[in-house]
Amino acid sequence: MNKPVKDHSIKARLSEAEMCKTLSIALKQDGLISGEDTAVIFYDLSFPEDRILGLKNLFPPSTLHAIAVKANPLPAALNIVKELGAGVEVASLPELYLAEKAGFAPENIVFDSPCKTRHEIEYALKLGVYINADSFDELDRIDDLLKILKSGSSVGLRINPQVGTGTIVSTSVADTISKFGVPLDDNHDKLMEYYLKYSWLKGVHVHIGSQGCEVHLMLKGIKKALNFTREVNQELKKMPGGKPVDTFDIGGGLPVSYDPSGDPITMEAYHKLLLKDCSELFNGQFRLITEFGRYIYANSAWVASKIEYVKRERTYNIAMTHVGADLFLRKCYNPGDWHHHISLAGKDGELKRGKDKNKYIVAGPLCFAGDVIAKDLELPVAAEGDFLLIHDAGAYTLSMWSRYNSRQIPKVIGYRPGTMTFEVIKERESKDDLYEFWT
Ligand code: LLP
Repeated sequence: MNKPVKDHSIKARLSEAEMCKTLSIALKQDGLISGEDTAVIFYDLSFPEDRILGLKNLFPPSTLHAIAVKANPLPAALNIVKELGAGVEVASLPELYLAEKAGFAPENIVFDSPCKTRHEIEYALKLGVYINADSFDELDRIDDLLKILKSGSSVGLRINPQVGTGTIVSTSVADTISKFGVPLDDNHDKLMEYYLKYSWLKGVHVHIGSQGCEVHLMLKGIKKALNFTREVNQELKKMPGGKPVDTFDIGGGLPVSYDPSGDPITMEAYHKLLLKDCSELFNGQFRLITEFGRYIYANSAWVASKIEYVKRERTYNIAMTHVGADLFLRKCYNPGDWHHHISLAGKDGELKRGKDKNKYIVAGPLCFAGDVIAKDLELPVAAEGDFLLIHDAGAYTLSMWSRYNSRQIPKVIGYRPGTMTFEVIKERESKDDLYEFWT
C-alpha cells in the first residue's frame, strides 16, 4: 500500500467549509448522530494516511516511523498506521497492549517510558520490541534480565542533549534538568562507559519536546546526540569485536499550526534541514526511527459540539457547550500556551456568517470556572442548537480525556472526504461503561 504522495499534495489542514459540508451530510445520515450526541469528534481518516505516506516517501525506506500512540490511541488510527507498514511508539505497558491488540509486529514497536518496572522490561524483552531505556539504572536492569532470558529486542538509550526549552515549558523535555533521559553534558564519560560496557546497547534516542520547539532547537539536540554517537562509534571501533551503534531515533515533535492563517514548517522542510545538518543519519550507517504524533493527527480532526444555552449579557455572551476541559484539557488548564480555532454552524451544519455585537466566551459543561475553551471570541449570532466547530482536535485531546464530572466520552466518527462515507470508530460511552470505570 505504498501509493506515492507528492509533497505538495499533503494538506496543511481541513477547512471550515469542508467541516460544514461533512457535518451537514452526517446530520442527514440515518442513525449516525442521535439526540444524545451533544458533541461528536470527526476524523478525516485520509489525513493521517497522507501524512504517513508522505513520511515514507521522504525518509529512507529502512526508516521505522513509530507513530506516537499517546497522540491518538484509537484502534481505528492504529489500524491505519499498521496497514501503511509504519510502527508505533508506546509510552506505557497499556499502550504496548493496544499496539499488540492492533497486530503490530514487535520489531515495529518502540517502547519508551521513563518509569518501566522490572516486570514491564521483562515483558518487552520477551516480546522482542525495540526498547529505549531512560536511565543508567534501567540499563542495569536490562543487563540483569538479558543474562537470564532470550530476547530479540534491540535496545537504545534516551539521551537528553540539554539544549533548552521551546515556548511551552510543560512539553519541552531537553532542558538542563529534565525528568527524561540521561543528561549528556553532565554524564558524558559515564555514558561512554555504558556504551562500551554493554555490547547489546546499540541505539541512541533523542526527543526535544512536543509543539513549541522550533526546528532549529530540534536540530541542535539531534546534532549534539549525533556528535556523541560518532565519538562512541570511534571508541567501539578500537575494541576487538566492537560493533557500532546502529540505530538512531530522532523522536517526534514537529510543531503543527493551530491557526488557520498559520504557515507551519512542513515535513519536507524539516527533512531538508536534517539532510543538510545531520547527513550521517542518511548515509546508511544507522537505521533511523522517527516518533511523530501531533504532525500525523492534530489537524485531522474537529469537534462539533452543540450550544445548549447562550447567556447574553450587556457586553459579552457566554455559549455553554458540551465539551470543555474534559476533551481540551491543555487549553483549559494552560490557556496561554494553546489555541483551537472555532467556527459556528447552524442546526443543519451550514456555516453561519456575520458578527454578533458582543464577543463570546465559550464555556464547557464542567463544574469549575476554568472550564473555558475560548474568550473574546468573535462569532456570528449563536443560538441554542447551533454547533461550535472546534478545529485541530486530533492529537492529545481524546487521549488526555479527563474524568472530572463523569461526562460520557463523545462518539467518534471517521470519514473519507472523497466518498463522504462515515463510520463510527468509537461509540459514545454508555452510562454502564462509565459505571464500570468507577467500580
Ligand atoms: N516521542 C516521545 C518520546 C515523546 O515524549 C513524544 C511526546 C513524542 C515522541 C511525540 O511528540 P509529537 O510528535 O506528538 O509532538 N499534549 C501533550 C503533549 C505531550 C507530548 C508528550 N510526548 C501534553 O500536553 O501533555
